[in-house]
Parts: sequence; structure tokens; C-alpha cells
Amino acid sequence: MSKIVVGNFKMNMTLQDVAQYVQYINNINFNPNQNEIILCPSYIYIPYLNNNIKFKVGAQDVSANHMGSYTGEISAMQLKSENVKYSILGHSERRMNFRETENIINKKIRQCVDNNIKPIVCIGESKEERLMMKTEQILRRSILDLFRGFTKEQLSDIIVAYEPIWAIGSGITPTPKEIEETAYYIKDLVRSAYKVDIRVLYGGSINLSDMHKFIGLNNIDGYLIGGASIDVEEFSKIVELIS
Ligand code: PGA
Repeated sequence: MSKIVVGNFKMNMTLQDVAQYVQYINNINFNPNQNEIILCPSYIYIPYLNNNIKFKVGAQDVSANHMGSYTGEISAMQLKSENVKYSILGHSERRMNFRETENIINKKIRQCVDNNIKPIVCIGESKEERLMMKTEQILRRSILDLFRGFTKEQLSDIIVAYEPIWAIGSGITPTPKEIEETAYYIKDLVRSAYKVDIRVLYGGSINLSDMHKFIGLNNIDGYLIGGASIDVEEFSKIVELIS
């Protein structure tokens, strides 16, 4: 089954770094018809990557608004005009540092859907919520709030990234069985609530040395990779391993 691999560069790399990255990764063994590799750099490097790399390019965020007086924001329509087909939305770093709520993220999904950009929507529980056995409750609440107001067809384009907040950048991950069960929970919930099949990715402290744990998991359609995607050699090996 084909997999989706999303590299989230976060606020890292300069233009020179991105150029070196491209030079390296363009030489690896990769069949573009087999898996979808989507690299998400800072906005300003999207045109450069789109023009130079053989992978797909996505954004890390988008404005909740259509256009107008929103200094510093980038709209979905602008991303579309740069041929962007994917955007990460609702990453926990945005929820924490920029107070994004489900309501705001729902509006961002709307902007993406209206501009033919596939949303990669992040959801996940905090450590405290997990300890209180609230993971499913949190994921359920998120999905019902985020998926509000879309047609079945639009919902089927949403990719959900299950990213436990405590696993991001921490080196600690859920067990493969926990990931499979949670992904099943998400898919089953969406299937019963909306009669739609969606794709679910896992993200949080994925790296090359642990990759064997994540390959071949039931109900997992791919991976969202932060730190390890910034290291071009490591990320290239991950891509080759999956291919
Ligand atoms: P990480 O980040 O792979 O560095 O844990 C994942 C993410 O933030 O999407």
C-alpha cells in the first residue's frame, strides 16, 4: 500500500540549507508513483522547493481568513497560486504558541478545501490527558469540532495526523500496538459519524533507528516527521526504507 511521508521542517533552514537539501535528496532512489513524499518548509522556500525538487511541497499552516487586512498572514488562495496542494494544520506547536483552537483550525480547513489544498490535520492528547485515560475523548472532541460543516467528499480529502503532544520532539513514542489502536479508533469514528474513509498518519519522534517499529502498522497510512526530516541523510534513508 502506498504511504504518505510528510517532512515538517518547522522554522529551520535558510535558503542555502534548502538548496543543499534539494541537491542531496534529488539523487536518492525514489519512485514517485509509489509513495507520496510531501516536504513542508517555511513559506518563503515553497516556490524554490516546488521548482527544484521531485517531491511534493506543502505548507506548515494557512490563514483562517480568505484575504484582506491580516498583516503577516498567508492565504490558501495564495498557496494555491504557488501550486501548493497540501498544508499541515493545527500542529500542537501552533495550538500551544499561537492559541489555535478547534474553531480556528476548522476555518483553516475550510480555506484549504475551498482552494483544493489537502489539509493534514494534527490531533493528539497531552501527557496529562493520557494519564487520565482521556485520549479517545480528546480525539473524538477534536474530530467532531474540526470536521464540522463539510461534505462527505470534502472530508475524504482530509488527512489526519495523530501526534500525541508528549511524543513530539521528546524521543518517546507510543508502542506500535497503541498507535494501531488509536489510528483504528480515529478511522472508525469518522466512518461511523460521517460514512467516510480517511487516511491517518502517525507523527512524534519518528527517526531512522526506530523506523522498523512504524513500518507495516495496521491502519497507518504514513508518517509526519519533524526533527528527522531536517537531516537530509536521515530523511533520505527513511524515504528509501519505505519505498
Ligand atoms: P518530531 O516532530 O518528529 O520532531 O517529533 C513531529 C512534528 O512536530 O510534526
